Amino acid sequence: MHVLVTGATGFVGGHLVPALRAAGHDVRALVRDPSAYDAPEGVEVVCGDLLEPESLDAALDGIDAAYYLVHSMRSGPDYVERDRRAATNFRAAADSAGLDRVVYLSGLGEDDELRSAHLRSRREVEYLLGEGRYDLTTLRAAIIIGTGSASFRLVRELAERLPVMFTPRWVRTDCHPIAIADVVEYLLGVLDDPATAGETYEIGGPEVLTYAEILRRTGEVMHGVEPRVVPIPILSPRLSAWSIGLVTDVPSTVARPLIDGLNTPVVATDDAIEGRISVSLTPFETAVERALAGTRPDAVRRAVAAAGDSR
Ligand SMILES: NC(=O)c1ccc[n+]([C@@H]2O[C@H](COP(=O)([O-])OP(=O)(O)OC[C@H]3O[C@@H](n4cnc5c(N)ncnc54)[C@H](OP(=O)(O)O)[C@@H]3O)[C@@H](O)[C@H]2O)c1
Repeated sequence: MHVLVTGATGFVGGHLVPALRAAGHDVRALVRDPSAYDAPEGVEVVCGDLLEPESLDAALDGIDAAYYLVHSMRSGPDYVERDRRAATNFRAAADSAGLDRVVYLSGLGEDDELRSAHLRSRREVEYLLGEGRYDLTTLRAAIIIGTGSASFRLVRELAERLPVMFTPRWVRTDCHPIAIADVVEYLLGVLDDPATAGETYEIGGPEVLTYAEILRRTGEVMHGVEPRVVPIPILSPRLSAWSIGLVTDVPSTVARPLIDGLNTPVVATDDAIEGRISVSLTPFETAVERALAGTRPDAVRRAVAAAGDSR
C-alpha cells in the first residue's frame, strides 16, 4: 500500500515509519523541514506543512492511506486553533486527492469529562477529520511509554528528580498507559484490516494505574526505590503545573497542556479492538525499561537536534 505519514519527525511517527517499511508498505513521510529529517532507507520524503494547504496536494498524490500523527502544542498557546486549521486543511486535501483511508491517533477520555483544552482539542480533531469522504479509523490512547514521548518524559523526570512529590488530587486519577511497541502494532493492524475502516477504538496497556502508581513504579524501575507521592488536596493544578515546570526539561508549552489534562480519567473501557487485532500487551515495567534503555529513531533524533530541541 502507498502510505503517507504526517508527523513523521514526531515520537509516534518516528517509531511507525520504519515499522511500515518493515511490513512492506511504500512509505512517504510528510515533514516541514526535509533537510533536518534523515529518512529511514526506502522512505520517500515530501516537504509539507498542514498549515499551508497548497503544500499538501503533491504529498497526497498517489497515496492510498494516511496516518494523522500531528499536534501543534510545541508552537505555543494558540495550538487549539492551529490544530483545528491543520485538520481542516488535511481533510480538504485528502478529499480532493480521493484518499481511501486515514488513521488518526487521538486521546482517551469520555466526551463530557475532557477537562483540558489539549484533550478537547484532540477530540475536536477527531470530529473534523471524521467529516472527510475517506474512511477514518481513530485509535484513542492515554500516555504512551517510549523513548521520545513528551508525556513519558514528564513522568521519568519527576520520578528521577523528586524523592518526595507533593501533588494535587490528580495523582489519584486513573490512566491507562501503553507501550509504544503496542501502539505501533495497533496502528499497523488497523491498516491491514478493512473492517476497521470508519471505526473508533480505545487502546490501553495491560493495567489501569493512577498517576501516583505510575510515578512510584517508574521510580522503582529507575532506582529500585519508590518515590513518595504525597497528595495535597489544596494544591491547585495551576500551582502544580508551575512547580512541575521547575523540575522538568519538557518545554512549558507542552508540559502545561499535558498537566492540565491529568484531572481527566483516561481509561479504555471499550475492548472492541481485541476482536480485530491481537496484540500481546507489554507489561508496564517492561515498557518503562525499554523506554529508558532505548534511543529514539535516528531520523527523529536528527530532526530534534537540528531544531535545537532537547525533547
Ligand atoms: N505521546 C503520547 O503519549 C500520545 C498519547 C496519546 C495520543 N497521542 C497522539 O499521537 C499523535 C502524535 O503525537 P506525538 O507524541 O508523536 O507528538 P510529537 O512527538 O510532538 O510530534 C508531533 C508531530 O507533528 C508535526 N507537526 C506539528 N505541526 C505540524 C504542521 N503544521 N504540519 C506538519 N507537521 C506538523 C511535528 O513536526 P515538526 O518536527 O516539524 O515539529 C511532529 O512530527 C498526536 O495525535 C497525539 O495526540 C500521543
